[in-house]
Amino acid sequence: MDDLGGVNDIGEVVAADRAHVWHHLIQHKMFETVDPRVIVEGRGMRVWDARGKEHLDAVSGGVWTVNVGYGRESIANAVRDQLIRMNYFANSAGSIPGALFARRLIEKMPGMSRVYYSNSGSEANEKVYKMVRQISARHHGGRKSKILFRERDYHGTTITTLASAGQPQRAAQYGPLTPGFVQVPHCLEYRAQWDCENYGERAADAIEEVILREGPDTIAAMIAEPVSGAGGVIVPPRGYWERVQDICKRHEILLHIDEVVCGVGRTGAWFGYQHYGVKPDFVTMAKGVASGYAAISCTVTTEAIFEMFKDDAADPMSYFRDISTFGGCASGPAAALENMRIIEDENLIDNTNAMGARLIANLHALAERHAVIGDVRGKGLFCGAELVADRATKEAAEERKVQAVVADCMQQGVIIGATNRSLPGLNNTLCLSPALIATADDIDAITDAIDGALTRVFG
Ligand SMILES: Cc1ncc(COP(=O)(O)O)c(C=O)c1O
Repeated sequence: MDDLGGVNDIGEVVAADRAHVWHHLIQHKMFETVDPRVIVEGRGMRVWDARGKEHLDAVSGGVWTVNVGYGRESIANAVRDQLIRMNYFANSAGSIPGALFARRLIEKMPGMSRVYYSNSGSEANEKVYKMVRQISARHHGGRKSKILFRERDYHGTTITTLASAGQPQRAAQYGPLTPGFVQVPHCLEYRAQWDCENYGERAADAIEEVILREGPDTIAAMIAEPVSGAGGVIVPPRGYWERVQDICKRHEILLHIDEVVCGVGRTGAWFGYQHYGVKPDFVTMAKGVASGYAAISCTVTTEAIFEMFKDDAADPMSYFRDISTFGGCASGPAAALENMRIIEDENLIDNTNAMGARLIANLHALAERHAVIGDVRGKGLFCGAELVADRATKEAAEERKVQAVVADCMQQGVIIGATNRSLPGLNNTLCLSPALIATADDIDAITDAIDGALTRVFG
């Protein structure tokens, strides 16, 4: 290894990590006896750890982020050039990449017109919550202010985004949470809550039942993932989004689509909502916007919403009084512009559709041999396999065993994910989201590893 940031030995790096870094989402007791994993290098679909072990990454940096793959020099160069020319100024002023990326993005989002920059998915969602609350305060006397969220969806890690988490284990112990958020049912037909013909429409109608119970004049907005991710890769049933859109329109409820995972190609379209003809009022995105080469998130809205924040220039409180310091970092949009060029020039959305179809077909083939696979779901390169102890009753496989499958794949040098500590008793879905550059050989290697792991863990 040539550059270790001033130390001679990778062991020193691992020791420093073990002594001083508090890692995300991990219980640290085990690091009293084993070393934490330190990832030191990445190329294409592959990463290497501190021991030099190579891994095929089937989760794009663990959490659906590195969509164009590792080691992209052209993005690094775009960021470097921008940093030398102009690294930062608060976004109360504009920047060259900020303006140009906003224009490129809006070209991909007919009906939308304004981009508000910040730097995480949680923050992008909070911006919408603040906009919605301000619209309520200024136009509805504060009454039409509640925000609907769906069971099983995830929208971020802050106290307020956790108030909109449909995942009780994520929010547990972090209360009291922000008031004014109301849960509506999920739409996963495999875990059906109604026995009926048109499940998509029925699941949408269940949202309207909540709206009528609460009072439509109290509900300002609804947030939802177009295809839910961390809640178990939930692809909406036919007719669902059309009906949800109609319900929101009838009750004058603003629709906020959380594209933090699905956005920028992941599902085989520029945005997940575009598969379903949805016309959102707000769209938020983060992870794949710059594939992790820089921190950037975007809150995108329509001209009609934007107009509401400049309708009374004489009122000093009428505009959006919000700032995100690092929303002014020019590296974010510089990386995002180059990321978008790569997706277009390398036809990565077409590849996502082709490789996503292969991944789903491979998972269905595995399901023929492994009774533990109860359901296979996905859109583009955003796929999941729900594991069950019993196909007839759909009793969930134990979380411990699901994690053993993930660990076995890791042992084989393939990094996959699984829902975890989200839904009590239902953390049983393997999650796959390889980079959009995946080849047929990569896809087959991923499902071969799962095949071996399922055999060893479940027999
Ligand atoms: C759908 C969705 N929204 C929001 C977030 C929060 O994003 P961040 O971790 O960048 O704050 C996530 C993170 O996984 C997510 O999956």
